[in-house]
Amino acid sequence: MIKFFLNGKEVSTEVAGDMPLLWLLRDSFKLTGTKFGCGIGQCGACTVHIDGEAMRSCLMPVSTLAGRAVTTIEGLGTEEHLHPVQQAWVEQEVSQCGYCQSGQIMAASALLANKPNPGEQEIDQAMSAIICKCGSYPRIRKAIELAVK
Ligand code: FES
Repeated sequence: MIKFFLNGKEVSTEVAGDMPLLWLLRDSFKLTGTKFGCGIGQCGACTVHIDGEAMRSCLMPVSTLAGRAVTTIEGLGTEEHLHPVQQAWVEQEVSQCGYCQSGQIMAASALLANKPNPGEQEIDQAMSAIICKCGSYPRIRKAIELAVK
């Protein structure tokens, strides 16, 4: 049995330790905000926070999670109190197809938690690791700059 914290609550699982966290989140915990894009660590759609760092859940075996804190898009803010990055995303109307957006928001919120006032280049560098097929990067940068304010 593996115990860890998921969106602030202690949870346990008995799935095989080599199961990727992404599968556990979506299939066992029904947290489907975290998306499957490529499954091989290339696209970033599956990004969550593990101990506050942006990580790709498709590459994270469940066996590595004991005692750690996982946050998904469902745990970032609430409908009443959006996280500042989520609020900025709404105000800037960032989403187009929307598929990569939870990964984008998780990456952006981790960036700001670690670097509260990033420059344009730092934003672009951090966010280029999450692929957006709609090319919403200019709106993503604007939203992050808004969230900083
Ligand atoms: Fe994990 Fe693409 S689904 S990086």
